[in-house]
Amino acid sequence: MLDKTYILAIESSCDDTSASVICNEQILSNIVANQDIHSKYGGVVPELASRAHQQNIVPVVDAALKEANISKENLSAIAFTQGPGLMGSLLVGASFAKSMALALDIPLLAINHMQAHILAHFIDDANDKKPTFPFLCLTISGGHTQIVKVNDYFEMEILGETIDDAVGEAYDKTAKILGLPYPGGPLIDKYAQTGNAVFKFTKPKVKEHHFSFSGLKTGILYFIQKQLKENPKFIEENINDICASVQNTIAEILMDKLKKAVKETSIKQVAIAGGVSANSEIRKRLTLAQTHFGWSSYIPKFEYTTDNAAMIAVTAYQKYKLGLYSNQSATANPRLKVNS
Ligand code: KG4
Ligand code: ZN
Repeated sequence: MLDKTYILAIESSCDDTSASVICNEQILSNIVANQDIHSKYGGVVPELASRAHQQNIVPVVDAALKEANISKENLSAIAFTQGPGLMGSLLVGASFAKSMALALDIPLLAINHMQAHILAHFIDDANDKKPTFPFLCLTISGGHTQIVKVNDYFEMEILGETIDDAVGEAYDKTAKILGLPYPGGPLIDKYAQTGNAVFKFTKPKVKEHHFSFSGLKTGILYFIQKQLKENPKFIEENINDICASVQNTIAEILMDKLKKAVKETSIKQVAIAGGVSANSEIRKRLTLAQTHFGWSSYIPKFEYTTDNAAMIAVTAYQKYKLGLYSNQSATANPRLKVNS
């Protein structure tokens, strides 16, 4: 194997079209094209997402190669997100990567999006220190909420997961109730900065390491409806405090479960990953856990939290080293699990 491996990775699982070039574990480019089209619908519209991926993929891949200052003839392999995600979106990245690998006659690597969120911690500049195996990872995104025991790069166990909505969905649906555009997570986080957690919401009681967020969403809806009856301006007058209260409740739910998992596994290396790991309150609490509970906390850089191709690229590099290539029959799998 050459000393330097250059991999082009493509991510198209949901509503971001992204391409990245990696040289071993060092990211040379990470281009992300967001799709603004969904904000007015209050959520991702699958048909529009796949159409936008088709429009974006060529310029995004081109920009990633240019920024990395590399020509496609120098690539060692092409990687793509196999799943989980939206079928129509995944197919755009999968077909593009397969054709490119075939045309260049280089290996193809099919990557699991959820494993990639976790393995983003192994990007050279993701963190000031890297986790060592085994570690726990709280994976929190628009589609997932899981506590994963990471035994090795490709050996992961789900200790617990949501039985209904994902935490990102709880953020986005709450934002919708408050009249904020999609994706609501970053906006709730922003308003929460200047608010106080004065409103209390009931936390769900869920067994073992599992989560539930649909009851919380309904609780927030009923609370807001009740308040609006008394004061039609309740939301605009209290937006900061409402957001701080929601944010505080969600952070408590997540931290309670993490503490339980640490206690039961005796693993004190704890990472967070996925779009919601960009959240300032969750990042703060994980940082504090180092001094309060003696954890080693791993918090990824912002650009590696929400969907991006850099995380696909670093995962692909690990697969490449192990010779875990895919063939042209590899196809999109919308329901791929983190432990498969
Ligand atoms: O990982 P991701 O980009 O896509 C999925 O694989 O689902 O996660 C997107 C989710 C959205 O629900 C978005 O609202 C949420 O991450 N999110 C946040 C923040 N930034 C993004 N939630 C809370 N606070 C944030 N700062
Ligand atoms: Zn994701």
